[in-house]
Amino acid sequence: MTRYAIPLLGLAWAASCATGEVPSARFANAPAVTRVDDRRDVPDKPSEREFIHSLYHYDGVVQRRLSRALELPRTRRALGVNALDEVPDSTWFTNRIGVRELTPDEVRRGPVQVGSPEAHRPWMIHSTKTGGSEPGFMISDARGKKFLLKLDMAAFPEQLTATHVIVGRLLWACGFNVTEDHVVYFRPDDLVIAADAVGKDVFGDKHPLRRDEVEAVLARVAVEPDGRLRGMASLWLDGKPLGGPPAEGVRDDDPNDRIPHQLRRDLRGAYAIFAWLDHVDVQESNFLDMWVKEGDRHYVKHYLLDFGKALGVMNTTGINPRHGREYVIDFAAIARSLVTAGAMKRPWEGREPSPLRGVGMFEADGFDPGAWKPDSPAYVPFLTADRFDKFWGARIVIRFTREQIRAAVDAGRLSDPRAADYLTDTLIARQRATARYWFARVNPLDRFAAASSETGAILCFDDLALVHQLDDAAATQYRVSTYDNGVQPLGPVTVVRPDAAGHACTGALPLAASSDGYTIVRVETVRPGFDRATFVHIARDAASGAPRLIGIWRP
Ligand SMILES: Nc1ncnc2c1ncn2[C@@H]1O[C@H](COP(=O)(O)OP(=O)(O)O)[C@@H](O)[C@H]1O
Ligand SMILES: [Mg+2]
Repeated sequence: MTRYAIPLLGLAWAASCATGEVPSARFANAPAVTRVDDRRDVPDKPSEREFIHSLYHYDGVVQRRLSRALELPRTRRALGVNALDEVPDSTWFTNRIGVRELTPDEVRRGPVQVGSPEAHRPWMIHSTKTGGSEPGFMISDARGKKFLLKLDMAAFPEQLTATHVIVGRLLWACGFNVTEDHVVYFRPDDLVIAADAVGKDVFGDKHPLRRDEVEAVLARVAVEPDGRLRGMASLWLDGKPLGGPPAEGVRDDDPNDRIPHQLRRDLRGAYAIFAWLDHVDVQESNFLDMWVKEGDRHYVKHYLLDFGKALGVMNTTGINPRHGREYVIDFAAIARSLVTAGAMKRPWEGREPSPLRGVGMFEADGFDPGAWKPDSPAYVPFLTADRFDKFWGARIVIRFTREQIRAAVDAGRLSDPRAADYLTDTLIARQRATARYWFARVNPLDRFAAASSETGAILCFDDLALVHQLDDAAATQYRVSTYDNGVQPLGPVTVVRPDAAGHACTGALPLAASSDGYTIVRVETVRPGFDRATFVHIARDAASGAPRLIGIWRP
């Protein structure tokens, strides 16, 4: 078996005799893989990847970008997808929303292990925060639990702390591994400097941390009218940190890491999700691989972290309306501007900071789900992502109910209820824009189910554009045709219509005469301005004889 075949168990490719429209994909007559075994023991700690900010960005914006362009990379469909076009659970991703019941309360709590340190003061400061320029400390609470404490800058109260927690909760519900983060309130005298606490000077040299250094940090942060401070406490992850994963290729010393990252569906499809959340701060240092221990095994687990600049907070704190609409250094935008002598309206013109406390420059108006950009083009999975990956991401985004979104927003503990309402409404408007955009580029049929009928099978499905009221059920019909494994038509084309809720079932479909009844059902969705098909493969389960779904191919 090749290195990359494991997540594709169940998907078999045959040299095709397919003609015309029916693609050559064939699937094994087996249940789809729902979990990848990538937790096999890695006894030796993989090496830590060093992140050098300037080099990383030079490489991503100039060097590697040029060399990639010269390589003429061919477009490839994503790997890490099962026969039903879904991402199996792994150390990267765990299917949550829409796959299991997720109460609003669960979304509000997120990946909770130890709970907030707020009730466990005083806090011991061990060092000032390393990493970016935002104020913060490494602390441990009265239980001895270690947290990274980040604070809001004075000019932007509540923005970073609320955003970090809200976006973390939503990304967790989507399926990613994230840190356990809490908005916390405390008083300056809840902070005690540990005897061995260290500070760093501008050259990175360490010295015993002084009270005046702590006070200098606190002088930069937002203070509540009652003198309290507000922070975001991120539970320090278990395990040994290995730095972020490379944006291309694999980590060579992790035998479980088999799919080149630029080909991973979960990483590529995150584009639609990050765009929804305007999570522009995509760089290697905001991903973290941890070498974790489980029983007597070690393996690498992949986290996302640092979401405080999403929801337009990068724009307010950086005083720059371009984030999300252009790369920070955007050669294409510069060229366009030069060619048109600046006459063209730029996609960020007219954007204004929100007057609401705690809200960044985050709007639904002017949000283009297909043109959204993170700050840097260095993240290769977003360069290789295709419409199928983004359709996968959009299918996850649209699953959130208003209550679930509101629950995530509530975890941000915004003081102004109008700010929480605004964020909820804007997330919903951007959610719908995301779905509308990607559901127009791939046939948005989902949740296929096959059942027995006297003469063969019945296939039922949801039309996501109708389920979410993005299109008109009365103007929609499906043209259904069936083929055997050799692509001979099995009967006439039939037409079915959806019910008002966007659900549809075919009539009894003939199954092929082969021993397992392998049949390809082509379902073409037709409505004004839209005509696209999905191929659904069904075959008889050898044990029960009942027809079952064995593959989905979205062309
Ligand atoms: N909860 C955590 N557990 C372990 N490491 C963390 C955690 N939060 C942050 N880090 C580490 O600290 C670094 C800086 O934190 P980050 O939240 O990215 O702040 P910054 O705003 O400085 O970029 C990260 O790159 C990561 O290596
Ligand atoms: Mg960071």
